[in-house]
Amino acid sequence: MKWRGSLRERCLLRAVQICNIISVSAAFFQGNFTVPKTEKTAKRTGPEANHAVKMAIREASKSYQTRSGAVHALDKVSLDVREGEFLCILGPSGCGKTTLLWSMAGLHTLSSGDIRLGNEPITKPHPEIAMIFQDANLLPWRNLAKNIELPFELKRRPPDRARIDKLLERVGLAGFENKFPRELSGGMQQRASIVRSLSVDPSVLLMDEPFGALDAFTRDEMNLLIQEIWMETRKTIAFVTHSISEAIFLADRVAVMSARPGRIAEIYDIDIPRPRAIDIQTEPDFIKQVLDIKSRIEHGRGAKVAIT
Ligand SMILES: Nc1ncnc2c1ncn2[C@@H]1O[C@H](COP(=O)(O)OP(=O)(O)OP(=O)(O)O)[C@@H](O)[C@H]1O
Ligand SMILES: [Mg+2]
Repeated sequence: MKWRGSLRERCLLRAVQICNIISVSAAFFQGNFTVPKTEKTAKRTGPEANHAVKMAIREASKSYQTRSGAVHALDKVSLDVREGEFLCILGPSGCGKTTLLWSMAGLHTLSSGDIRLGNEPITKPHPEIAMIFQDANLLPWRNLAKNIELPFELKRRPPDRARIDKLLERVGLAGFENKFPRELSGGMQQRASIVRSLSVDPSVLLMDEPFGALDAFTRDEMNLLIQEIWMETRKTIAFVTHSISEAIFLADRVAVMSARPGRIAEIYDIDIPRPRAIDIQTEPDFIKQVLDIKSRIEHGRGAKVAIT
């Protein structure tokens, strides 16, 4: 399929490509988007229980060269992201969370160390790795359907309509295909960006504070939605957030980073059965876990993280 956009659109798309604002991942979906027959409330067992490693980060360091000198963002970060797990990464502002995630997406080059997907070193964007940002990054002059089809166009492949339709239905956006981003709420836009990322069926989803700009109620809704999607697809998810409760609510494990230069300070196992209801966040055990992590962060060089 040959894509025929206007010159302006093509230039902007090129910029989008170059900047890697959206993932151009295109490992096309082979099967159906169905709910696997797994127990939904019991603790997880199966392949993830033996901790197969999906992405291995080894001694990853990153310094940015700036006019005022080098900024040491990451310092020898080593972390395994396990197959099918929901890993949340928490840490104070500026500790290198985005740097780490962009490096995992192949959008940044490390100064030293390496990141692998299986045995494959990640040095550039990979079709199995998709990224979702705080801003939904929808192109304002394209309607919802055209925004979602963008990764397919960039790869000059026909869109997987069956999968897109199922995903739109799944996130409650069926019927909104002709709407433009300005006609959608922030939550709807972010749902569209989730559909766009999942439409090309990546095996790893990297999310950088994807719900940080949403109001509290919409954020709760999105947390429930992403929990359901994860339970249905068992994608490997690495999710950066500032919110300790959001991290505990969503994660199998929470990796806490130290203040810059970022290191992994601690990893917490979160042993709460799924599906998790929003109101577990008011339970004493949950609050205790929030306070434990908060105090761990506060012991690391004056870091500040919101408790929400
Ligand atoms: N392109 C860049 N050039 C120079 N310095 C950078 C660049 N990107 C990030 N930094 C610096 O690297 C450090 C880590 O930044 P990064 O964005 O990874 O932090 P973060 O943990 O994601 O912060 P936040 O929670 O505020 O999003 C910061 O000191 C930041 O100023
Ligand atoms: Mg960031």
